[in-house]
Amino acid sequence: MRRVTAPDQLPAPLPPAPAALEAVRLRHSFGAVTVLHGVSLRVESGEVVAVTGPSGSGKSTMLHLLGGLDAAQDGEVWWAGERVDTLDSQARAMRRAGRVGLIFQHHYLLDDLNVLDNVLIPCRLSGQGDAGRAADLLARVGLAGRERALPEVLSGGERQRVAVARALAPRPAVVLADEPTGSLDRANAETVAELLVSLAREDGAGVLLVTHDERLAAYADRTLHLLDGQFVE
Ligand SMILES: Nc1ncnc2c1ncn2[C@@H]1O[C@H](COP(=O)(O)OP(=O)(O)O)[C@@H](O)[C@H]1O
Ligand SMILES: [Mg+2]
Repeated sequence: MRRVTAPDQLPAPLPPAPAALEAVRLRHSFGAVTVLHGVSLRVESGEVVAVTGPSGSGKSTMLHLLGGLDAAQDGEVWWAGERVDTLDSQARAMRRAGRVGLIFQHHYLLDDLNVLDNVLIPCRLSGQGDAGRAADLLARVGLAGRERALPEVLSGGERQRVAVARALAPRPAVVLADEPTGSLDRANAETVAELLVSLAREDGAGVLLVTHDERLAAYADRTLHLLDGQFVE
């Protein structure tokens, strides 16, 4: 009689799910000055991680490498289980459009495009997300009815909420935010931070939030401290 499943033929256990974002020993210098000294981190899907550190500690440099905006001089960057630091910059940009949502201190909306078309930019580049998803996100950030407005007629807080909707529109695996509320007053900063974190969590994105702001770091599941280009306890 034939055994259907011999003990040594049992299916192997499933490998652990890939992290939303992983960095391995990232190193970066500007000229003779080394700004990152081998930084490693892992952000799981649905997890929110804050990075704090004094000005000049390397936070923005790290975020640019993690978002593939600059090429790491050494080390690895992985988005949802795919290594991307080895891609050329154009391939990385195409990958980024669908996988990584970026939010900066300043919103960087395109002035000639209306609110809806700004939110649709990463969708059009990646083929992920559509006008329905974009309009839904705009409603969630309190901007229903403003789809056709140009950015110039919006307040700073409203523009930053458009930037949040734009980052999330293609359902990215990773959201990277660099001082996303740094240009806002306190009330607007709280609103934007809450929206960013709750919407990203609902979508199961992994979020890395660079901030000076203790109140913003309080939204995270854990906080990493960067000092002189290294994580410290
Ligand atoms: N493009 C650049 N060219 C030269 N030096 C840079 C550049 N970008 C950042 N630096 C330097 O790298 C260090 C870290 O900067 P940054 O990553 O912006 O820190 P943070 O965001 O924590 O304030 C600083 O000393 C800064 O002056
Ligand atoms: Mg910075």
